[in-house]
Amino acid sequence: NKGKYEHYMQKEIHEQPESLTTTMRGRLIRGGSHKVKTVLLGGLKDHLKTIRRSRRIVFIGCGTSYNAALAARPILEELSGVPVTMEVASDLLDRQGPIYREDTAVFVSQSGETADTLLALEYALENGALCVGITNTVGSAIARHTHCGVHINAGAEIGVASTKAYTSQIVVMAMLALAIGGDTISNEAKREATIDGLIDLPNKVREVLQLDQEMKDLAKLLIAEQSLLVFGRGYNYATALEGALKVKEVALMHSEGILAGEMKHGPLALVDENLPIVVIATRDACFSKQQSVIQQLHARKGRLIVMCSKGDAAAVSPGESCRAIEVPQVEDCLQPVVNIIPLQLLAYHLTVLRGFNVDQPRNLAKSVTTQ
Ligand code: UD1
Ligand code: M6R
Repeated sequence: NKGKYEHYMQKEIHEQPESLTTTMRGRLIRGGSHKVKTVLLGGLKDHLKTIRRSRRIVFIGCGTSYNAALAARPILEELSGVPVTMEVASDLLDRQGPIYREDTAVFVSQSGETADTLLALEYALENGALCVGITNTVGSAIARHTHCGVHINAGAEIGVASTKAYTSQIVVMAMLALAIGGDTISNEAKREATIDGLIDLPNKVREVLQLDQEMKDLAKLLIAEQSLLVFGRGYNYATALEGALKVKEVALMHSEGILAGEMKHGPLALVDENLPIVVIATRDACFSKQQSVIQQLHARKGRLIVMCSKGDAAAVSPGESCRAIEVPQVEDCLQPVVNIIPLQLLAYHLTVLRGFNVDQPRNLAKSVTTQ
């Protein structure tokens, strides 16, 4: 049921304040002062000790689910103290890459039925790793075959392009980082800021959804383009990959997410006065580096669209021709949840304006159950 919306993708983008609330429900536990003190992930509580003692955490997934894990990787590294590596499921299988008994392998999948992820799970089970699932679908193959896990509880996602599952996956993985990190003194400030940020996140998402019309206007400007680049780094490298994936899979426009730190190692050659480029430059530890990327792209006459924190449009815009998308600032590790939303809206409007099927893009299936 699409309710008041024309398409499932549109509905699923706009229901993110509610889906995120459901994802967190019952999992942020209040202390005596009524302040939220700790995170409780029922499915993991008996396994946290083993995860903390593991030699490595390996995230495994495909497409958007892989991108969600990439977005959560820095907070996991920071709070857990355990090295975190990333595997695209098919690539792990192609290489028969190393997975050890001492590893915690985390399988991220909205459907819980993706063939590559499921085969990678079988492979990790054979190799003796502790296998943890993060999935949206109760009773799915991945939920059944993992040793333990967390349901993201985002509600059914119908649109082939994953939107609300992505943001709920990031929130679950941030909660996973808090749960693994425990209440060590060294993590205290970061833990409290992250918990406060989680509680307020649905409000910030409601705020960023108000950019809908602005993104439709931007889509009108980009309707006939051949290509769109998206530059991000740090917490928002994943946002660049995921924004580009949305544009390519539904709007059928070539789009590439680029790690901004790699700009001078090749991508800079593409820059001219025609190619539109989105640069993600919200406030975090990478902000000044992104300011310098913007200057360098501007010096080569790049057609820039800069995503920045509220109030920063003048500070980040190198000239009149640059467009700014201002988004609310949140705790750095949660910023990817806010930042992806304007790009989801952009992909949605571009698709409708270009006259393509939003909910069922050509050649794609919601759940990829063959290799
Ligand atoms: C569970 C109940 C929820 C109830 C809550 C109250 C289910 C599905 N969930 O939620 O309805 O409100 O207790 O305490 O009945 N699991 C995996 N692999 C996965 C995902 C989950 O093995 O990929 C396992 C978990 O380890 C856990 C079980 O499935 O044993 C349920 O997981 P989850 O729904 O996340 O647990 P709770 O949030 O505790
Ligand atoms: O169900 P899964 O999360 O395992 O699916 C993985 C990918 O097939 C999926 O995220 C795909 O990339 C989406 N269509 C992206 O929007």
